[in-house]
Amino acid sequence: MNIGMIGTGDIGEVIIRKLRDAGYPVKMANARGPESLKDLAANTGAIPVSVEQVVQDVDMLFIVVPQKAIPELPKGLLKKAKKETIVIDVGNYYSWRDGRIDEIESGLTDSAWVEKQIGRPVIKVLNSIGSKSLAGAGRLHGSRDRVALPISGDNPKAKETVAQLIDRIGFDSVDAGTIAESWRQQPGSPVYCVNPTKEELQQWLKNVDRSSLITNKEKGTKAYRAVENADYQTQANAFRSLFNEKK
Ligand SMILES: NC(=O)c1ccc[n+]([C@@H]2O[C@H](COP(=O)([O-])OP(=O)(O)OC[C@H]3O[C@@H](n4cnc5c(N)ncnc54)[C@H](OP(=O)(O)O)[C@@H]3O)[C@@H](O)[C@H]2O)c1
Repeated sequence: MNIGMIGTGDIGEVIIRKLRDAGYPVKMANARGPESLKDLAANTGAIPVSVEQVVQDVDMLFIVVPQKAIPELPKGLLKKAKKETIVIDVGNYYSWRDGRIDEIESGLTDSAWVEKQIGRPVIKVLNSIGSKSLAGAGRLHGSRDRVALPISGDNPKAKETVAQLIDRIGFDSVDAGTIAESWRQQPGSPVYCVNPTKEELQQWLKNVDRSSLITNKEKGTKAYRAVENADYQTQANAFRSLFNEKK
């Protein structure tokens, strides 16, 4: 399976490393251009290309840029991708970083907004795990403490393909529903950045209260800032502590 990656920052780089470790061919693009990716290419074997090139002839395309950068992508970019290319949205909306986006503030899910911008359906995954956890928490299939990731999307077959890839990079997954329902895995959810096992994720996805997302998102941002430099377990525990009483 050929993979394209737009965005090679904090989480993008970790995804690239995990995919390369699992043996996937990867090409990658960022805002500064292929020249800036020489070192990462030498370290990982991922091929640096332009944003226009990265969408072409790939089976899966990861979009791993801040939400505010989505409208800055070249107009009609996704028209250059194959119809069957599975587009993955790893992003989250944070108004302090992305500026206020009225449609999301009014209730559109982060990923439904991305779909509108790029003109293609997406599968939402990997948005709910921190980069340190993604780098360090992967485990062999069947491990008792294996972390599980929610996958949302409107195409069951594409979600299955994505679940297989997630398994190959060391994580379990749970189908979290459609893109309209993907608020369940957005920031502020009790499944966000807590590194749940599969059983926990299945249970907690059922109990997400949409009305508390905004408040908990603010609490999560504060909690994260206090443990930004800590190890991944400490970071996950900080998010868990926001919900311990409710769970
Ligand atoms: N960091 C995490 O732990 C984490 C975890 C899960 C989800 N997320 C979400 O994933 C998204 C990316 O987060 P991040 O932390 O990786 O951000 P980041 O470190 O700021 O990296 C952003 C990447 O996007 C690229 N980019 C920005 N505008 C672009 C454009 N117009 N065209 C092409 N590439 C562009 C940047 O290119 P340059 O390198 O050239 O500047 C950079 O490689 C966010 O929505 C975030 O909320 C993050």
